[in-house]
Amino acid sequence: MTDVRTVHVATGPGYDVRIGSGVLAEAAAASPGRRTAVIADTTVANLHGPVVLDAFASAGRDAVLIPVAPGEPSKDLATYGALLRRLASDRFGRDDAVLALGGGVVCDLAGFVAATWMRGVPLVHAPTTLLAMADAAIGGKTGVNLPEGKNLVGAFWRPAAVLMDVRTLATLPAAQIVEGCAEVLKHGLLADPELSDAIASGRIAADAPEDDLIRWVAASASVKAGVVAGDEREAGERAHLNLGHTLAHALEAASGHRLAHGAAVAWGLLYAAILSRAVAERCGRPYRDWSAPVRAFLTARPVPYPPEPAWEQLEPYLARDKKARGGTRRWVLMDGPCAPYLADDVPPDVERDAWARFRATVAEVRRARGTNGGDT
Ligand SMILES: NC(=O)c1ccc[n+]([C@@H]2O[C@H](COP(=O)([O-])OP(=O)(O)OC[C@H]3O[C@@H](n4cnc5c(N)ncnc54)[C@H](O)[C@@H]3O)[C@@H](O)[C@H]2O)c1
Ligand SMILES: [Zn+2]
Repeated sequence: MTDVRTVHVATGPGYDVRIGSGVLAEAAAASPGRRTAVIADTTVANLHGPVVLDAFASAGRDAVLIPVAPGEPSKDLATYGALLRRLASDRFGRDDAVLALGGGVVCDLAGFVAATWMRGVPLVHAPTTLLAMADAAIGGKTGVNLPEGKNLVGAFWRPAAVLMDVRTLATLPAAQIVEGCAEVLKHGLLADPELSDAIASGRIAADAPEDDLIRWVAASASVKAGVVAGDEREAGERAHLNLGHTLAHALEAASGHRLAHGAAVAWGLLYAAILSRAVAERCGRPYRDWSAPVRAFLTARPVPYPPEPAWEQLEPYLARDKKARGGTRRWVLMDGPCAPYLADDVPPDVERDAWARFRATVAEVRRARGTNGGDT
């Protein structure tokens, strides 16, 4: 039996995140509902639904699996509405619960169903992607997309419990692991150098020993839990979790959304490191380089390459970023490892020069991957 770790998220009454191998077997014990609606996409339902349903059956508890189609398009009002109507026709009530089994899409969608069904019922998160474990399942943000934009409708809704079963990562495509690694790397850079080194040296991979996965998923969860506990509603410090994201959102948009979020974040972290140094040089701030784990990760892992348009072509996408305030952009920068701050007044020429250095660094990564025998 491998170790099970518990990370407490100290918001309001607080909730526990249980990280281990086989913890999906605790699903019935974790759900406070008389009946539980298990919402999963069909891929995850086939792979990991039976373990969850068995857990309820052996506890003599009632659970109903409600499938949705896999992928981001399911995070929409139509699927949300269909789920509510299914709960109504199955006569789910106020004393029932929702269990979200899946990646970030199901966390957000089923979480929003739990937040709004009968004005809110208990929610259990059982994330099955590394990205959802690192990010979506902790912090209480739920919601759906509109055709006009991502995550425009939603609510803060705390889960009653979170079960992170690292066994589910064994069925995840390798590219999805790399995606999640970018968010884990971000947490390491913000608060846990051992964690960013683990990512840099490739110790978080689908074939890693389960004890290692448990250790690093728990380390990442601790960082996010710590930030969220200090600032649940993103009035201040929680914005630090956007490290790398200002550029990432622009790269995703500039690529016509072909570049996946995690890959965009990995490159966004590199730009944030380059910009942090440039700002420190310009403003005479003391600076300690923190780019090494980011470069190592980008060199060692097959993170898809970003678009590299001229800065002027990227700028319109940056201007749309939700963190843009009154015309100036807000960057999350760091003066050194684990030393984030928000910068609202970075001079445009510093941003542009950093982009040139960024493109030169992407070229270095391409050369290094070539000589590593990595991808091209
Ligand atoms: N609420 C938050 O704080 C928060 C934070 C970050 C991201 N998000 C949201 O998360 C979403 C992205 O999450 P994602 O990358 O996990 O996407 P996802 O939920 O679509 O999962 C990716 C794919 O992996 C499959 N899959 C999931 N688990 C699997 C497993 N164990 N084995 C095999 N296949 C599996 C899914 O069927 C899907 O096709 C976005 O909508 C994003 O907005 C939310
Ligand atoms: Zn992200």
